[in-house]
Amino acid sequence: MQSSPSPSRHRVTGSESVGPYTLVRLERGDLDPGVPGQFFMLEAPGRLLPRPFSLCLAPPGELAFLVDPIGPGTQALCRLRAGDAIAVLGPLGNGYRLDVDRPLLVGGGIGIAPLPYLAEQLGGSPPSVLGFRSDEHAEAAALLPGAEIVVDPVLVTELIDPGFDVLACGPEPMLHAVAALCPTAQLAWEAPMACGYGACYGCVVEIDGGLKRLCLEGPVLDATHLEGHVRNQVPDVSRRAVSA
Ligand code: FES
Repeated sequence: MQSSPSPSRHRVTGSESVGPYTLVRLERGDLDPGVPGQFFMLEAPGRLLPRPFSLCLAPPGELAFLVDPIGPGTQALCRLRAGDAIAVLGPLGNGYRLDVDRPLLVGGGIGIAPLPYLAEQLGGSPPSVLGFRSDEHAEAAALLPGAEIVVDPVLVTELIDPGFDVLACGPEPMLHAVAALCPTAQLAWEAPMACGYGACYGCVVEIDGGLKRLCLEGPVLDATHLEGHVRNQVPDVSRRAVSA
């Protein structure tokens, strides 16, 4: 039987717009920021279920999460103001392995969220390439100074040179394209998550022909383990809608 970890309440210290996204800052309290690519379940005010977010930044005393206001839960999170408090659980899941020689960070859209903290944990400013669907969304590249940027219809994979250890996060088609180019890449996937710790089976995906809970096995998986195939088993649910 899977035990149920308890969330703790954390005050909002502020929030700021980053293009169409909102960076929500929380008091860290005794939470461990964890390994880049791990995720936290954040209470979405007024909604039944929390939403999963990877950590974007870990300034002293704070944890900051990049939120795309695409649904009622994420919009409620973006409306939080300093002094509000929400329940937070984490860090959860498996993040990126940091023992890489030539890191290249690859992000698409809101998938850039874990990359600023990842860059910091890799020791500075690894090269990074980011793809966005509009100039407004590309304003979020300010979170990763020095990144190369492309805006649709140019694909981020066009900027990936051979010989790098790729660490990627972004929409599913981008991850498949990155895996095809870079078989050793580490890829952060998304799935609908209700609990975050293995109890609800809402995040079951097909990996290497078997059904696995992404919140426990991932969300970061080696491309070599995928055989090009990660597919959520919940019908009619968009993987990009996990934090709606
Ligand atoms: Fe509940 Fe994975 S989110 S089992």
